[in-house]
Amino acid sequence: MKFSHATIEKNATLMLVLSLIVVSIGGIVEIAPLFYMQNTIEKVEGVRPYAPLELAGRNVYVREGCYNCHSQMIRPMRDEVERYGHYSLAAESMYDHPFQWGSKRTGPDLARVGQRYSNDWHVQHLIDPRSVVPESIMPPYAFLLDKKVRTDDIVAHLRAQQAVGVPYTDEMIEAAAEDLKAQADPDADWDGLLARYPKAQTGDFDGDPSQLTEMDALVAYLQMIGTLVDFSAYRAEENYR
Ligand code: HEC
Repeated sequence: MKFSHATIEKNATLMLVLSLIVVSIGGIVEIAPLFYMQNTIEKVEGVRPYAPLELAGRNVYVREGCYNCHSQMIRPMRDEVERYGHYSLAAESMYDHPFQWGSKRTGPDLARVGQRYSNDWHVQHLIDPRSVVPESIMPPYAFLLDKKVRTDDIVAHLRAQQAVGVPYTDEMIEAAAEDLKAQADPDADWDGLLARYPKAQTGDFDGDPSQLTEMDALVAYLQMIGTLVDFSAYRAEENYR
């Protein structure tokens, strides 16, 4: 029997088997190297693990389900980049467990919200969104002002993050409870905190320096989102598709 392309085309089973072999070769070539690479995310300068207060704020963000209405993922497309800022880099969420890319934008993307508004604005907006954005449909979160941040379990939170690969050092874990309080204390000495977590925002966040509330934590987190990488080195306009 002459073995030609016509033979394959006339035999559905043979065609299927050979197609599967070809597709598998393509798949293996693409997938196998990933298992031998230490890291598939390009390192970007400035990205660091969350400071304890930011992590506590991030936990509030996850608990309250903010991700149901807000994404943290700017796509490399002109309308998104013009509205929100430089598109998100994979490295920016490399220490996010679980990541907060989200899948729905009822509200705006938050990947570059850090430093865009004052602390006062965030607190007022979270207490009563419609007092600052009259047409807002965001729910109020005023109760966060009355909820104290738990300080007893922050070490466990850091350790859990460390267990899934976030490079918290022993020094960071040892200082976690202290750093948690210091970040929102206007009278604290921030040298150690800032050496461990460069660019951390410090000082009172919720308008009441005498208490460490979940409002402090959430605003500290919001104010750092998207601020770690210095994008003046990147040229967004030339990179989007
Ligand atoms: C039901 C949907 C919904 C939920 C849940 C929600 N938001 Fe919003 N959010 C919105 C909408 C809509 C806007 C735009 C109007 C406004 O600014 O209030 C918004 C705006 C914002 C803004 C201003 C963004 C900007 O660039 O102007 C921030 C910050 C924010 N939300 C944070 C949060 C946080 C933190 C949570 C969780 C504690 C949360 N949101 C939960 C719908 C939501």
